[in-house]
Amino acid sequence: MSLFGRDTERKELDALLFDPRDRTGVLIEGEPGIGKSALVEETIAAAASVRVLRTAGTEAERHFGYAGLHRLLYPLRAAFAGLPTRQYDALACAFGLSDAEGEPSVHLVGLAALTLLSDAAAEQALLVVAEDVHWLDSASAEVLAFLARRIHTEPITVLATVRDGATTPLAAAGLTPMRLTALSAAPATLCAAGSGARDAHEVRHHSVIRRIRRTTPRGNARQVAGNRRDGTAAPPTTGPARSLHQISRSSTVTTIRFHLQSALSPAEVLGVLTDFGPTRPAAWPTIDTEHFTVHDRGETWAEVTEGTAAAWERARYEWDPAGTTVTIRTLDSKLFGAGGGWIFRAVPAGAVSRVEVELTRTPRTLKSRILAALLPLVGPSSLRKSFAGPLRAV
Ligand SMILES: Nc1ncnc2c1ncn2[C@@H]1O[C@H](COP(=O)(O)OP(=O)(O)O)[C@@H](O)[C@H]1O
Ligand SMILES: [Mg+2]
Repeated sequence: MSLFGRDTERKELDALLFDPRDRTGVLIEGEPGIGKSALVEETIAAAASVRVLRTAGTEAERHFGYAGLHRLLYPLRAAFAGLPTRQYDALACAFGLSDAEGEPSVHLVGLAALTLLSDAAAEQALLVVAEDVHWLDSASAEVLAFLARRIHTEPITVLATVRDGATTPLAAAGLTPMRLTALSAAPATLCAAGSGARDAHEVRHHSVIRRIRRTTPRGNARQVAGNRRDGTAAPPTTGPARSLHQISRSSTVTTIRFHLQSALSPAEVLGVLTDFGPTRPAAWPTIDTEHFTVHDRGETWAEVTEGTAAAWERARYEWDPAGTTVTIRTLDSKLFGAGGGWIFRAVPAGAVSRVEVELTRTPRTLKSRILAALLPLVGPSSLRKSFAGPLRAV
């Protein structure tokens, strides 16, 4: 999987986990679906030189004492027998390997775990991964915190994840907290999502994905399909807790519509849209000369690549020279791949023209789905602006 938009966090994690002079552990906090596990997996995949031991809290096992620790230490079971007697007895009791009754001492179990991990780390540095520690059984969470407080001199680091707002003994174990917030898309990319518009600075993107969670993207195919037979709308699938995960699954098609008033006549609007001469990049703020190629053209159609490095698209234009409509099919594009496109329609409106624009995106990758989900929010205004010049908006 390729991770989108977490470069800063990845670098920070590498520094905190793998710098031999200053190893600590990290506790990643964030709401469900924000991308904690994705970040952990990517970090593990890149950590070539360490041995990874992992456990995870699960709802099903949260009431089974030492279930989480058992999962972590199971790969080291061959070494259990070499532990000092009291540590072995405690661990054996914790893991049900002996007939001893009663609760083993968390302290002794912790020492046993520390011995096992230190011995293993003497052979190869260890990364101890503990996911969803809010669901760990409490004894395992206590032992992990005990370990975390004692490993700073060892080549062992802990990488743990926890749900926002949950309490865990690991929060007070000296791990560096890392709060994961909603993905921010680069503003340039965001605005370019539709057109390559350059007024990117307007987008306060950090809040945008958060706002998306509270907003139903218009034209979302599933929501349209979800309208009930009796004509009433299905309950919105969005809500305050809508996560990235849900965005990535639900936003399959995005259509946005807007219009602008143009001082040009409808025929002139058509003329500007379908003028593929050498002055096109100069006329359109969303096209630069390095990203403008006319592949082929006829009387009523053209196949071109146009845009910017951040947002080019290869498209087939079709129009009726005597008509009012230009349709543009996206054959390929930097941000969304193939599919979808644009429809421009110009109609007289008094002394001016009304230009109606419809943009459809059919994103396939997670990144483009996120961008598409943002289009209804940031698209219309930035697109309208980028068309204002060439279409002589009034
Ligand atoms: N930065 C990212 N790039 C690509 N996919 C991501 C990213 N963050 C999360 N995802 C995807 O979103 C979904 C939820 O992320 P996940 O890591 O499971 O969240 P968490 O562990 O915080 O609950 C997963 O399908 C994951 O692959
Ligand atoms: Mg997770």
